[in-house]
This record gives sequence, structure tokens and C-alpha cells, in this order.
Amino acid sequence: MNKEQTFTIFGGTGDLTFRKLIPALYNMAAADNEQLNGQIVIIGRRDYTSEAYRKLAGEWVEKFARLSYREEIYKELAERIVYYRMDFTDEEEYKGLDEFYRASGAGGHIFYFAVAPRFFGTIVKGLKAVHGAGSGKVVIEKPFGENLKAAEELNIMMEAFFQPDHIYRIDHYLGKEMVRNIQTIRFANPIFSNIWDAEHIECIQISALEEVGVETRGGYYDHSGALKDMMQNHLFQILTIVAMDRPQGPGVEEMHREQMKVLQALALPEDATKSAVLGQYRGYRSEQAVAAHSATETYAALRLFVENDRWRGMPFYIRTGKKLTKREMQVAVVFKSPVPGVPQNILNIKIQPTEGVYLQFNIKRPGELDEIIQAKMDFCQSCSYINQMNTPEAYERLIGACIRGERSWFSQWDQVETSWNYVDALRERYVSQRLPVYAYEPGNAGPDEADRMLERYGHAWFD
Ligand code: BG6
Repeated sequence: MNKEQTFTIFGGTGDLTFRKLIPALYNMAAADNEQLNGQIVIIGRRDYTSEAYRKLAGEWVEKFARLSYREEIYKELAERIVYYRMDFTDEEEYKGLDEFYRASGAGGHIFYFAVAPRFFGTIVKGLKAVHGAGSGKVVIEKPFGENLKAAEELNIMMEAFFQPDHIYRIDHYLGKEMVRNIQTIRFANPIFSNIWDAEHIECIQISALEEVGVETRGGYYDHSGALKDMMQNHLFQILTIVAMDRPQGPGVEEMHREQMKVLQALALPEDATKSAVLGQYRGYRSEQAVAAHSATETYAALRLFVENDRWRGMPFYIRTGKKLTKREMQVAVVFKSPVPGVPQNILNIKIQPTEGVYLQFNIKRPGELDEIIQAKMDFCQSCSYINQMNTPEAYERLIGACIRGERSWFSQWDQVETSWNYVDALRERYVSQRLPVYAYEPGNAGPDEADRMLERYGHAWFD
């Protein structure tokens, strides 16, 4: 066993670990991905033996892993899993952890903080007692703080212990296959790259719709809401990839620089009435751990402008919400009609649940009449079994990238900071203009006001 590399998960009995991380580690093992072959240390407060934990984790792998469960593969993985019981909020207990690591010859640390951000500080303090921890890597999950101030404090504290380029801020949307594909679709196809601007495009719509509600996460979500939970991170990441100029080179810095330029050019709307609609599904206030009079939004739709030469004057419509008609994430690019009355060309990049690309363009109806009809080309990437098998899931991909030290598909601190700033300011404007959080029925498309926001400008959501 390569003990040069030790992968430790804090929060080893939480939902994220069971549903995403352990299945991702299994997929990596099943795909013969040799990158992670050292010890896996699971830290939790519950009283498991390593044996009992391995058995439980195996059940989650069977349920949630992308690749089918094979006893011999899981057995090999399980042999590397060690459960270490401790209260990670108690700084005193880290001495014991250090001894455990020393005794098992651990090193080359990667720490995964699969716990709420309020615990990050305590864990970092505790890790000071662990030999070699400060030179390790750390993976953290959003939200990076509850607001900009909290995010800044968290960042200072993390950077005081870990090297800044050893901090990996996960945005799991950046691990999704079709999000990674946006650059290729844009830049490897002159039919798109040459007309990717406000002169040729009418509007771009980014939608992340969910069928589920807040489930068991009411306590966290009620302090967050759709703007912070989805918009500020996942959707702004996608927006910047869709809107950025072609990076000057293949490296992290080049792409990151272009993404940052987009974030910095994002104009704050003068009048939130025309640019933002927030909603809350009926019944949200009765969800577990949600305040009885909560005004937290479970839906947000924005009309945004990127103030640069490429995009000036063209709206980006972005929406996300819970308890909607369906689960669907897509980027729809609506091109301008060449002549009034001629239907628009539409390119739709389908991110989930179906992965693929849909293109709608005009042709002549067969026959004598010169009537225009629409040809609809629908490429389904995920319909092929081979593609499904070869497409790693977001967490698999991102854990692999962290091990290899590839940072481009993680959120960088300045992106987090700039988008926090933007979302905080936008929300403040919404509240100061006394705009309501509109109620909507669960299972519906969200508040009608979001449709009206587009109708006012002659647009409609692409569904
Ligand atoms: C998480 C949000 O980051 O993304 C959740 O906190 C949301 O509220 C989830 O449900 C959606 O992820 P996915 O991959 O199912 O689209």
C-alpha cells in the first residue's frame, strides 16, 4: 500500500461521504484509476469499527456508484479504508490523530472537509498538531462562508495553514461532463465561435431546475437560499465559461483570467424590478429546520448584462429553483433572426439529466412551397452505454484532478470573492426596493413573474 498518500475525510458518516465520495472512490478503483492508491482515513464521531464502516460503505457503493458493484474491487478498496473515531470539534483529540497517522506511516496528506463550513476553523486549528498536515492538500465544499465577510475570514484562516495553491474549492458543477464540453463546443467549432457575441445572439439562458425541495438540509438552506446555494457558485461558473473570451493558453491561469474578466464586467442592475425575481415554494416554511416566517428564496431568476465589447446589450437569463416541474440543467443560446418572422436558431447544451446538444435551425418544407420549417438535431451523448461507462462523475473527476494538482476545474478565491460581492449587492438592492419573494406552487415552473420578466423584452424561457 502506498502510504505516501493518505486521503482523509472529515465527516465520514455524512450524506456527502456516503452518496458521493465513497462511490466516487469505488468508481476510481473500478476504472483502474491508479491515482488514489494509499490509505483512506474516515473520521467520524459515531462508534464504528473499520470493519463495520466498510460493510456500511459497501451498501452505499452498491446503491450509488456509477459502475456496477464488484465484490473483488470493493474488497480491495475496503482494505485501504480505516475508520478513525474522534470528535473533530475537540482540539485535544488531534494529538491522538497525529499518533495514529505516525503509527500507520501516513503522509502526503489530502484532507477532504465534508462537513459544514462552521467546523473548518476548528479542524484547521486541530490539524496544527498533526505532523506534515500543513504541507498537505485540502478540499473544501461550498458554501465558502455565509457571506463575503465570512468567506474572507475563512479564506484567511485556511491560507494561514495550507499553501494557497493546495486549497481546492470544489464546485461539483465544474466536474460535470457537459460543463467541461462547453469550451470545446464553443471554440472547436467555427460555426459557433465566429458568431458568439451580442451581434449575433439574442439571449443566452442558463437554467438549473430541480424537482426536489430542501429535503433534510433546511437548517443550512434557510441561511443560504437559491442565490447563494446555486447562483453565486455553480451558475456563475457556467456563465463565465459561456461568456469568456478564448483563453490564451491551456493552463489554469489563462482560463481563470478570462473567467474573472467576465465576473468583473457583470453589471449590477440599477433597478432590481426588471432584473430579478425571487420565489419560495409553498410549504417551504414547514420544512424541517426552516424558520416559520422565512423569507429565504428557493427560486431565483436573473436578467444580467456583461459590460464588455462582446456582450454589451445582450441579456443573460439565469434561473434556478427547487420543487419545480422537472430536474433539468441546460444552456440555451438563442441566435438572432436574420429577418423578422424567421424562427431563431437555437443551440441547447444539455447538462443533465440528459447530456447532449440540441440544435434547431431552418430548412425549407419539402414540396413546392418555399415555407420555412425547423430542423431539430438532437445529439444525445448519455444515451450511449459506452459513453455512460466512460464518463466519470463530477466527484470522481475532481478528486482525481486534486490528486494530480490540476486546479483549473476548482473555484479560485478571487472568483468566490467577486461573485459573493455581486450576489450580496444584488440581494441588498432587491430587499431595499422592497420586492417580494413570490410564492409558487410545488411542482410548477416557478413564479409567473419570472416569465413576465422575459416577456417584457420579447423573450421566453426555452423549455
Ligand atoms: C448543491 C446544492 O451544490 O447542488 C443543492 O447545495 C443542489 O441545493 C445541488 O440540490 C444540485 O446538484 P446536482 O448535481 O444534483 O445538480
